[in-house]
Amino acid sequence: MKLNIALLAGDGIGPEVIDQAVKVSDAVASKFGHKITWTPALTGAAAIDAVGEPYPDETHDICVAADAVLFGAIGHPRFDNDPSAKVRPEQGLLKMRQKLGLFANVRPTFTFPSLIDKSPLKKERIEGTDLVFLRELTGGIYFGKRGREDNDNTAYDTCTYTREEVERLAIKGFEMAIQRSKKLCCVDKANVLETSRLWRETVQKLEKEYPEVEVSYEFVDAVAMRLVQWPSSYDVLITENLFGDILTDEASVISGSMGLMPSASLGEKTSLFEPIHGSYPQAAGKDIANPLATVLSAAMMFETAFGLKDEAEAIRDVVNKSLAEGIVTEDLADGGKAYKTSEVGNWLAENI
Ligand code: IPM
Ligand code: MN
Repeated sequence: MKLNIALLAGDGIGPEVIDQAVKVSDAVASKFGHKITWTPALTGAAAIDAVGEPYPDETHDICVAADAVLFGAIGHPRFDNDPSAKVRPEQGLLKMRQKLGLFANVRPTFTFPSLIDKSPLKKERIEGTDLVFLRELTGGIYFGKRGREDNDNTAYDTCTYTREEVERLAIKGFEMAIQRSKKLCCVDKANVLETSRLWRETVQKLEKEYPEVEVSYEFVDAVAMRLVQWPSSYDVLITENLFGDILTDEASVISGSMGLMPSASLGEKTSLFEPIHGSYPQAAGKDIANPLATVLSAAMMFETAFGLKDEAEAIRDVVNKSLAEGIVTEDLADGGKAYKTSEVGNWLAENI
């Protein structure tokens, strides 16, 4: 099979972790007889520096033309500490999500047997956790009207959802629940927010079309608590953009390191695969960041974008093997030998 993939390394540790995902993907492709064409393109601070824009048109064209997009990370501290900056790297990410119509962000959380003691949470609480968030990605407060008034002394951001936006995300949630353990949790704040009431109403209507799925409705604050108390009680969770952003960072703690969790963003024009972590600027260029979230995102890409399940499984197997054998970066080394980012990537590629 010919795989045409747009490669967006982005900022900070993005290029380093992307390099490892490319090595591993190429190793899988050669093992299974596929040919990958990687087309690199600029995003984030790197794109601002080069062309003054965090998601240039040229990058968009490359993404649209590709079968899938593999993405590293975006963000640079020089913009975070400058509230007056007119262009920010993150705007590139948001523009990309919107222009590519990437409305469903799939963020799984699972535990790795060999890391079960690395989690800050007690083993008996997290054992068996295997849940997946479906975060709405192109609506809500991220994209609502925002501004300043009252002589710059008042600021506002608005959260808006249409029935259609909720419906298409919820349908993905029901479909995913059917593939898994037929349990779906709708996370909202319907006791306070009108958008949440629209979410609940829409999901309740859809529920009738999926009688085999058991649906629960929970408030986001309660989910935040139960997620670390009894994560294994959840299976598929659907939620709006900002709630999903916050809860998936929280959920990543369960696995033991944020450097482990992959994600897929499914859309109208293409699909994009990226680690859930950020650009980790403190580690940029040091060859110490954990590449596994990006490598596992590549596994999701093989499976979701190309239907290549065995290839995805080969990547997951070799990742599990590396963890079991302690071929890990410093975030997981726990006093043992810490391997470099590139060493982990080489080991994975060689062991495919
Ligand atoms: C994420 C990130 C982004 C988000 C930032 C970088 C804009 O935190 O992908 O979760 O908030 O969506
Ligand atoms: Mn986030």
